[in-house]
Amino acid sequence: MAKHTMFLAKENKNDEFYTCYDEIEKELNHYAKYFKNKVIYCNCDDHAGIGLGTPKSNFLKYFADNFEAFGIKRVIATHYERDGASTMYILDKDNTGDGIICSEDIQEIPLKSNGDFRSDECVKLLKTADLVVTNPPFSLFREYVAQLMEYKKKFIIIGNINAITYREVFPLIKENKMWVGYGFNVAMIFKTLYKNTSESNRKNVRSHGYDPDDNYITTPAVCWFTNLPTTKRTEFLETGKKYYGYEHMYPKYENYDAININKTDDIPMDYDGAMGVPITFLNKHNPDQFEIIGLGISNSGLEIGVKPYKPEHKLYRKTIQKRGAVDGDLYMMVDNIVTVPYARILIKKKKGN
Ligand SMILES: C[S@@+](CC[C@H](N)C(=O)[O-])C[C@H]1O[C@@H](n2cnc3c(N)ncnc32)[C@H](O)[C@@H]1O
Repeated sequence: MAKHTMFLAKENKNDEFYTCYDEIEKELNHYAKYFKNKVIYCNCDDHAGIGLGTPKSNFLKYFADNFEAFGIKRVIATHYERDGASTMYILDKDNTGDGIICSEDIQEIPLKSNGDFRSDECVKLLKTADLVVTNPPFSLFREYVAQLMEYKKKFIIIGNINAITYREVFPLIKENKMWVGYGFNVAMIFKTLYKNTSESNRKNVRSHGYDPDDNYITTPAVCWFTNLPTTKRTEFLETGKKYYGYEHMYPKYENYDAININKTDDIPMDYDGAMGVPITFLNKHNPDQFEIIGLGISNSGLEIGVKPYKPEHKLYRKTIQKRGAVDGDLYMMVDNIVTVPYARILIKKKKGN
């Protein structure tokens, strides 16, 4: 069996998406000042691309290219090897003696274990780091973020927009321990281990200058997540919309005292009560302007006081609408029809705004 086929059989397909250099550059350039004198750890990053034929990670390359310009102290990269010991890559000094610190100065040091980000060896490295930057495996996103929180690390990482609604992740967003970066809900092109067989996807990849025959695939709904300051988080939203006089535009939920809003641009600036907004609101969230009350879906909804379906509405939804009816989901009555909007975040304006 070819090496790739063996690899694919064992792996979680969604984990093997390798970030393009230009996407890394586009996001990380925003944070350049936060890299000064810092130890940066990329802990899911196969710099040499030796892990059973996986593509190379571009994260260490990006930091090596900018090492001197950003004034970085040290960059460490480790990666996961399924069948044996892994390798660590370190860049912190001019090993070639040519007077500059760049990719050529990266040292390769064998690890004892397989480079799992949860292994003792990697946790030890994590403890030495100020900042963690990577695109981690999607299937382990919850665990990955929990570890960053446990060790109180600053981070810039990639995830899917759905991660916002995870029960383990949303409370961190609500408590302002994690927020979205500059690239939010974007279609990103990744190098993968798989053939791109979708004609429309191939066309899109080509239009961005990548070769679909080289396993590049466009993936929707990608977000950067961070706990470093971003300028967009300090901007005040001003939609020019009003609630009073336009009440009919904003139906109230049947099971929570809040109005429903379908688009962030429709948030009325004169409404002081709770409002249910789409999760894309987070792209515009300024914690000085709005407070996040919670997430109006299933158990997360029940926890913040979203009432279960009234029996007749639950029945109607199941038997007439033939849809799922999960208690804790916000719903409203529109022309006597049970209407459940897609996941809503409940927010409230902060006093004085
Ligand atoms: C989404 S890919 C991104 C790779 C690389 N960070 C990049 O952006 O190019 C996630 C990577 O994490 C690796 N991985 C899976 N499980 C891991 C683990 N337990 N510890 C560390 N890395 C893991 C996958 O094999 C894959 O290479």
